[in-house]
Amino acid sequence: MKVYKCNQCGNLIAMISASGVPVMCCGKPMEEVVPNEEDAGAEKTVCDLQPLDLDAKENYVVCKCNQVSYFDILDSLQKHSSIENLLDVFDDVKNTTHCSTGCGGCYEKVIAVISEALSAGKH
Ligand code: FES
Repeated sequence: MKVYKCNQCGNLIAMISASGVPVMCCGKPMEEVVPNEEDAGAEKTVCDLQPLDLDAKENYVVCKCNQVSYFDILDSLQKHSSIENLLDVFDDVKNTTHCSTGCGGCYEKVIAVISEALSAGKH
């Protein structure tokens, strides 16, 4: 699964199945979010896995500011069954775990974990 960001409005989308047609928003192609480029060689995070290993036995820190782990996010998704509104699910995960309430640098990582977990039904 790939995540795309609109550099105009900031929309984030998760591509569950690609047809080959470019992803557009605000009249322009969306940019693929490549997680963890700036963190290469730094502390291991969930985005070191490509694709995310949702059956992982090992836990990872997704939000460094608040030490929110990959398993914390999966646990907070228990009451959600689908990605009907990704940003509403993100807000609920944020309120439950306090992830992405510090520097906000984990925002795209948290979105990627939520998207992949809900699309794979692994929560
Ligand atoms: S890393 Fe999550 S808020 Fe800073």
